[in-house]
Amino acid sequence: MNVLILGSGGREHALAYQISKSSVLSNLYVAPGNAGTAQIAENVKISVNDFNAISEFVKQNSINMIVVGPEDPLVSGIVDYFRAKPEFDNLYIIGPDKLGAKLEGSKDFAKEFMFKYDIPTASYFCANPSNYDEAINYLATLTPPYVLKADGLAAGKGVVIINDYSEAISELKNILGGKFGSAGNKVVIEEYLDGIECSTFALTDGESYVILPEAKDYKRIGENNTGLNTGGMGAISPVPFYDRDFANIVEERIIKPTIEGIKKEKMNYCGFVFFGLMNVGGNPYVIEYNVRMGDPETEAILPRINSDFLKVLISAAEKKLKNVNLEISTEASVTIILVSGGYPGNYEKNKKITGIDKVKDSIVFHSGSAINDGTLVTAGGRVLAISSFGKDISEALKKSYSAAKEIHFENMYYRKDLGFDLI
Ligand code: AMP
Ligand code: GLY
Repeated sequence: MNVLILGSGGREHALAYQISKSSVLSNLYVAPGNAGTAQIAENVKISVNDFNAISEFVKQNSINMIVVGPEDPLVSGIVDYFRAKPEFDNLYIIGPDKLGAKLEGSKDFAKEFMFKYDIPTASYFCANPSNYDEAINYLATLTPPYVLKADGLAAGKGVVIINDYSEAISELKNILGGKFGSAGNKVVIEEYLDGIECSTFALTDGESYVILPEAKDYKRIGENNTGLNTGGMGAISPVPFYDRDFANIVEERIIKPTIEGIKKEKMNYCGFVFFGLMNVGGNPYVIEYNVRMGDPETEAILPRINSDFLKVLISAAEKKLKNVNLEISTEASVTIILVSGGYPGNYEKNKKITGIDKVKDSIVFHSGSAINDGTLVTAGGRVLAISSFGKDISEALKKSYSAAKEIHFENMYYRKDLGFDLI
């Protein structure tokens, strides 16, 4: 089997790492990839959004499966693009069609879906310029803080949480006025949910599903969850409070009705579903859907899967997931992210990275790295993801933190408090 993974982050390196171990793999490519994926696969200089170039590559290299890492190409319809061409009838694609990708691409669409299928989520009102007065009335019925979400994709920045009522009104005006571009043509105003966040993941073939390990990620740049939001500063799996009872409630009230809804809405959905959850006193609510794996959650979760992951993906593509039993390690996994100083604001790139070869007891996934004149250098805000196993979180944390001490690049930063809220 020849596989092409689309994307260039730690998530794609972790996907490549798992797929590269498969007994049914022939050739593995990553487009565009990074310095980490180059060690286990062949990087291809093609953008994830250049569907024509991707289809040429698929033809020339007899690709059997595309695994789509990020959401952008899915929301733009990469699955529909290939499905419209009979010559690609035998090509497997892991990722939903454009309709399925709206679960991530439009917050309003996702909320309507959740209400239609009785999936627990915060109550909401979808504001647009023509129902502005009604939107203000709705806002007045809520107790602070106020949650405002730009409807469309806004590079992870489209959610604002505000304590003050009049500030919330002016922010609503700003978003509708174009603060996040056309992503803010509509704004979902939501009831605030007070609880603990965690995420769970499923792989579906559109009818059946397997549940992947859950994870907790750390979004803020600063210790004790302070400072700006980032793409993710680390992840931990399993999550201690995600016990069997909670997992059963999530499956019955959230995962099953979501897959049922996907089927009923006739989405062509063979891919990952990422459920961003809020645990409010033991009751899970969906905060968001993503139609792909998370980053850095993937770097913590995938190494815990002992099954031949490519075979699992093939079962999904062949609609045979109901026969699959995922083997999951009972060990805990912890991923910490090393970032460039200044991130998530401005930061410098092209800093020499050293010390990865000294790491023995952890896996180092590359998130934003490149080879420049034969030297490994930083090429993004999030640079490396260090994943380690342990009999429990504390042991895995120790390993990731001692590995971090071996690695160096100028202005390197990482959070030193990951997991301390859970142990
Ligand atoms: P999202 O991009 O939808 O995941 O939202 C970003 C972050 O905003 C989430 O990770 C939560 O921390 C927070 N958030 C979103 N919706 C709510 C809500 N209804 N109540 C409380 N916090 C929320
Ligand atoms: N870590 C959050 C995400 O991938 O969206």
